[in-house]
Amino acid sequence: MVYLHGILGILVLASITASGPTAVPRQVSSYVGYLISTFTDASPEVQFHLSDGNSASSFKFLNGGNPVLTSTVGTKGVRDVFLVTNTVRSEFYLIATDLDINASEFSWDEATRRGSRGIVVWKSTNLVDWSQSSLAIVETETAGMTWAPSAVWDDDSSQYHVFWSSRHYDTLDTSHSGTSTLDRIRHATTTDFVSFSTPDDYIALADTPLIDQEFQYLGTPGSFARFLKNETVNQIYQETTTGGLFGSWTRSSSGYVSDRSPLEGPAAFADNVTPGLYHLLMDDYTQYVPFQTSDIISGVWQASSLTGFPTGLKHGSVTPLTQKEYDAVGAAYAT
Ligand SMILES: *[C@@H]1O[C@H](CO)[C@@H](O)[C@H](O)[C@H]1NC(C)=O
Ligand SMILES: *[C@@H]1O[C@H](CO)[C@@H](O)[C@H](O)[C@H]1NC(C)=O
Repeated sequence: MVYLHGILGILVLASITASGPTAVPRQVSSYVGYLISTFTDASPEVQFHLSDGNSASSFKFLNGGNPVLTSTVGTKGVRDVFLVTNTVRSEFYLIATDLDINASEFSWDEATRRGSRGIVVWKSTNLVDWSQSSLAIVETETAGMTWAPSAVWDDDSSQYHVFWSSRHYDTLDTSHSGTSTLDRIRHATTTDFVSFSTPDDYIALADTPLIDQEFQYLGTPGSFARFLKNETVNQIYQETTTGGLFGSWTRSSSGYVSDRSPLEGPAAFADNVTPGLYHLLMDDYTQYVPFQTSDIISGVWQASSLTGFPTGLKHGSVTPLTQKEYDAVGAAYAT
């Protein structure tokens, strides 16, 4: 069984009358707000936005709109910021793609052939005091890049499952100048974001390049949704499982979470107040657009109101906060 970081709140399981995977548990959480970790194209550094209480649409741009963390490793730029913690919330890791698309002579071709094989990592025990950045090499030498890392804490094995996207070149093509595999989702485990298991394929489709996978824990052990970007159409689709991260997954609908294109960088989170309500932010290449659903198993999402929702947020992640964490982050990075 694998638990996502969001279950510190007391879980109250409603009597489940629906059959099987359509049952969504009732959640009553003790969280008091949300932290969005993100970046911008113009500033490829970590930025924090803190919700006004448990509002999922009203946020303060912390630290006066300035980055809170700047990478000193690799390309010295980060994108696709993801914050993960364990169940007891004793440690927090910010992980990100090592990529600066503003760098001089930047090219997407170069970035996907001879880009970074590492992810940028910061560690904290309190969301306020952070380590220096480090570059954790997670990919093998056949990989062209390492994009959009995300992670899930696993209570049973006391380790993190880390996922990212990569494409690979033939072992003989050491300069990565030839053809590659399609982008696929890769996986490794770690306890400390310093050493990692040998990576393997998590999802590799024969006909579809995939990037930007993220999971949403659904409140009962083994139940998750996951979101993936089909790079052929630049749209996000949803799958669910009751069998854990490595169980069998079912696509929620033959279509996509939204008809809009482009969309990427899905960031899902459970509402802290309303049981069964979930939110999903998707990056339209300019900024995050918010969606929501009260029936996540259906895979049908509605666009949320944009009123008050901050503009300019890019592919990041949303973390529910306890009162202590909310107060600490708000004080340390006052607006
Ligand atoms: C980075 O690129 C963005 C466009 O994507 C541009 O607006 C910005 O000025 C650039 N920043 C730097 C520091 O070059
Ligand atoms: C991705 O989109 C292409 C083009 O529509 C389609 O052929 C392919 O089946 C899609 N793959 C997935 C996994 O949705």
